[in-house]
Amino acid sequence: MVTGGCGFIGSNFIQYLLRQGDFTGRIINVDKLTYAGNPDNLDGIEKNNPDRYLFEKADICDLGLMEDIFSRYAIDATCHFAAESHVDRSIKDPGAFIYTNIVGTFNLLEAARSHAGDFILFHHISTDEVYGSLGKEGLFKETTPYQPNSPYSAAKASSDHLVRAYNKTYGLPVTVSNCSNNYGPYQFPEKLIPLITLNAKEGEKLPVYGDGRNVRDWLYVEDHCNAIWTIMKSGRRGETYNIGGNMEMENIVIVEMICDILDELSPVSSGKNDHRRNLITFVKDRPGHDRRYAIDFTKLQSELNWSPQESFESGIRKTISWYLENSEWVRRVRNNEYQSWMSEQYKL
Ligand code: NAD
Ligand code: DAU
Repeated sequence: MVTGGCGFIGSNFIQYLLRQGDFTGRIINVDKLTYAGNPDNLDGIEKNNPDRYLFEKADICDLGLMEDIFSRYAIDATCHFAAESHVDRSIKDPGAFIYTNIVGTFNLLEAARSHAGDFILFHHISTDEVYGSLGKEGLFKETTPYQPNSPYSAAKASSDHLVRAYNKTYGLPVTVSNCSNNYGPYQFPEKLIPLITLNAKEGEKLPVYGDGRNVRDWLYVEDHCNAIWTIMKSGRRGETYNIGGNMEMENIVIVEMICDILDELSPVSSGKNDHRRNLITFVKDRPGHDRRYAIDFTKLQSELNWSPQESFESGIRKTISWYLENSEWVRRVRNNEYQSWMSEQYKL
């Protein structure tokens, strides 16, 4: 079972898994299809893999339905992506984050527990944001105390604790991964990289929060998928693994980079704003905005021999090109809900 398989990372993971020679199983994708869930991300998958892939539209907050899905498909492993994932939305309206991220995870753990005999692994996908914010120095380790600062990260922290508790208390076989910022194809354009890419392409303003000097550690989504599959296969049960890109960047540097690459790949035809950097607009900061994230992934590297393969320079070019080449996907994603989120959030 993959939960949240129609979202950004989940859909990349399903595509990745079906390409792996050492995966012979069948995937049941359980997704509620919220604003962030997009069946277009898996276009053709069901048709091309009729015996290996199946979609169940379902809400993980519905315990009865989760029990039913576990029984009907004899689920033996879960890779749990489904979550409300956007920090700004958690600030505006935290309720859904509590239900999906905490109660939804609890329901899946309960369903897994009641199938304990056949159940092999519950892999929980989490975030580096549970550790809070770093100063200029230091890295998040698996032993760093939790200090979440947004309703999103607090809800993810809560779900991490539940997963850990089900392992310690009931002996449920679990692994947890806490990853840094992902980027790549199919990311919903409320997140920094696709939002800036699409706004810059269209000649719209590019909102940068605060002074633009907040730092994130970026990882190409396929490297994340590879890390998850590595942990699922060989990670020690009951353990947590940090995943990162070794790629710390200030937001403003990324935004300028996107502008310059777009100027090169898709030059503005004439006159005004022929340099997209002119569109950069500093806006009010995000409340509680974490200053810096950086990940120490030595444990994953030394125990399971994983390291990121994609450089940021090539990954960001691939990503920008993907958004330029997939204008129909972009058109469908930028629907009414998206337009109203953008105008309410940014008022630019
Ligand atoms: P996303 O918002 O793109 O996708 C979330 C998916 O979950 C969507 O398909 C949505 O329909 C589904 N979903 C939401 N609520 C649901 C519910 N109640 N029942 C069933 N399905 C539901 O998110 P993403 O960026 O792909 O993130 C996936 C996971 O990875 C999340 O758990 C997130 O916390 C974690 N994570 C994300 C990043 C990142 O940079 N995006 C980094 C580290 C960890
Ligand atoms: O670190 C992992 C986390 O990364 C995941 O757990 C989250 O699900 C994912 O959304 C992401 O969280 P961030 O808040 O770091 O990502 P976001 O793309 O929203 O913002 C990245 C940085 O860019 C952050 O410092 C805020 C800033 N920003 C963001 C937006 C959307 C801007 O300056 N302007 C913007 O318009």
